[in-house]
Amino acid sequence: MTRSHLPLLCLLLFFLNFATSHDDVTIMQALRSSLTLTSYGNWSDPDPCKWEAVQCDGSKRVTMIQLKQKGIQGTLPPDLGKLSELIVLEFFSNKISGPVPDLSGLTHLQTLNLHDNLFNSTPDNLFSGMNSIQEVCLDNNPFSSWKIPETVKEATSLKSLSLVNCSVTGSIPDFFSSETLPNLVSLKLSRNNLHGGLPESFGRSSLQQLYLDWQILNGSISVLQSMTSLVEFNVRANFFSGFIPDLSGLQNLTLFNVRDNKLTGLIPPSLTALPNLTVVNLTNNYIQGPMPLFQKSVEVDAIFAAGRFCQETPGTPCDPQVQTLISIAESFGFPLNLAKGWKGNDSCDTWLGINCYESHITGISLWGQELKGSISPSFANLTSLELIDLSNNNLTGSIPTELTTLPKLRILDVSNNNINGDVPKFSGNVIVVTTGNANIGTKNKGTLAKKE
Ligand SMILES: *[C@@H]1O[C@H](CO)[C@@H](O)[C@H](O)[C@H]1NC(C)=O
Ligand SMILES: *[C@@H]1O[C@H](CO)[C@@H](O)[C@H](O)[C@H]1NC(C)=O
Ligand SMILES: *[C@@H]1O[C@H](CO)[C@@H](O)[C@H](O)[C@H]1NC(C)=O
Ligand SMILES: *[C@@H]1O[C@H](CO)[C@@H](O)[C@H](O)[C@H]1NC(C)=O
Ligand SMILES: *[C@@H]1O[C@H](CO)[C@@H](O)[C@H](O)[C@H]1NC(C)=O
Ligand SMILES: *[C@@H]1O[C@H](CO)[C@@H](O)[C@H](O)[C@H]1NC(C)=O
Ligand SMILES: *[C@@H]1O[C@H](CO)[C@@H](O)[C@H](O)[C@H]1NC(C)=O
Ligand SMILES: *[C@@H]1O[C@H](CO)[C@@H](O)[C@H](O)[C@H]1NC(C)=O
Ligand SMILES: *[C@@H]1O[C@H](CO)[C@@H](O)[C@H](O)[C@H]1NC(C)=O
Repeated sequence: MTRSHLPLLCLLLFFLNFATSHDDVTIMQALRSSLTLTSYGNWSDPDPCKWEAVQCDGSKRVTMIQLKQKGIQGTLPPDLGKLSELIVLEFFSNKISGPVPDLSGLTHLQTLNLHDNLFNSTPDNLFSGMNSIQEVCLDNNPFSSWKIPETVKEATSLKSLSLVNCSVTGSIPDFFSSETLPNLVSLKLSRNNLHGGLPESFGRSSLQQLYLDWQILNGSISVLQSMTSLVEFNVRANFFSGFIPDLSGLQNLTLFNVRDNKLTGLIPPSLTALPNLTVVNLTNNYIQGPMPLFQKSVEVDAIFAAGRFCQETPGTPCDPQVQTLISIAESFGFPLNLAKGWKGNDSCDTWLGINCYESHITGISLWGQELKGSISPSFANLTSLELIDLSNNNLTGSIPTELTTLPKLRILDVSNNNINGDVPKFSGNVIVVTTGNANIGTKNKGTLAKKE
């Protein structure tokens, strides 16, 4: 802008300001008549700047409306978004109904607090142009179902967004990273109908609080490994699967609530070692292995659920055969079917696909279990094994040479998988079945096999 335009601009701004302060009165009068204020305050003065719970700046522009917890009924006028100097707008814990109006003109608004009302819709352009907005809470409103719109990205000052119990559907948008929303530290989307997985941009966020409990979210929680700013993580009551990633980067984590999901695998030592943990909820998952030993200061929720852990005493290791089978399951990526079928400390007690003789594992039959991943060299630790049947799965990698050391092995069946590499040399007593593996006998075709 050139210097010569400045006086003109100032004049323009003066008139704009004059005009809009007059508009504020009109809008405030509309607000007064659309709300039932009978039991509250004195909004009779012609000057709204003198009304209770209303504040103005020196130019008589309305900057704050804080009508909270008063049982007020009515609706909000459509022009509310023209109170363009508003900084704080709070109507929480009332009975206000109808739509949340278009607030996109509120470029100075920092706080929007409308929770616990009877609003039925949010504007499609939510937060459009609202680049000062920092804190938003719309919890507990009977909205008709809606998706988080792309315009939320425009709220670049956003620190805290709470949409708990707001009838939000769809998947979690992939823009909660610090490139897009650099100030966002708290995201609470609990008790909605969100589905799908955790967006990968979470891994590039500076979120400290993430609440996603009570939804139908699924997939892996592996992105958590990169969310090093996290202090509170709550995904209770969803359908998350896979294993808990390495959490050693999350040194400030205090709350870890994953109860009521479908997580498998072991509790990583990186979780038990976290210095700031206070509450851990793990109940109702398919977590295996030893019951973890947390520091005394950590409250752990009903962790020995349904005998899944191998021991009731925290920190006690599992039976050696159980340890080996868990390590085998790890190479398969801790699939849910094995997590369900392999629990407790006695692998000879009706474990899925396991045969024993005098408490020693003699056979492992896991054909057609939709297994992925690779064949663990740990099979070689089960020295009584006579039969390994991994046929009709989707295993990759090669047959570990260690398996040739099994003294009693008679049959190794890996037919109909994606195994590659040379078949190691077994003794003449072993029948090795490798049919139906297009890349068997060829070296280093792992990447090729994956591409197919
Ligand atoms: C409301 O305020 C106006 C002026 O601010 C005053 O004249 C009037 O008496 C007040 N009414 C009540 C019921 O307090
Ligand atoms: C969810 O919001 C509805 C209003 O939309 C309310 O009646 C209900 O109590 C809220 N649920 C919880 C758990 O707060
Ligand atoms: C997650 O759920 C959707 C259905 O909402 C399904 O299509 C998808 O396969 C599921 N993903 C995983 C990893 O379970
Ligand atoms: C952990 O918290 C401390 C103190 O609040 C803070 O200085 C530090 O940056 C946080 N660490 C991470 C990784 O966010
Ligand atoms: C977490 O623990 C570390 C090490 O004890 C400490 O330095 C840090 O300040 C703690 N963070 C918070 C947020 O308390
Ligand atoms: C989580 O575990 C703590 C500690 O045992 C317990 O007080 C709390 O009620 C649990 N929360 C949930 C949601 O289960
Ligand atoms: C298998 O045996 C080797 C050698 O005794 C041992 O180092 C390793 O920890 C065992 N693996 C499992 C999973 O038990
Ligand atoms: C179970 O755990 C105990 C303690 O580690 C161990 O002594 C025992 O051999 C384990 N195995 C079975 C099959 O119970
Ligand atoms: C096996 O895995 C490959 C690559 O991971 C995949 O494309 C294919 O669909 C899988 N097949 C089955 C039957 O699951």
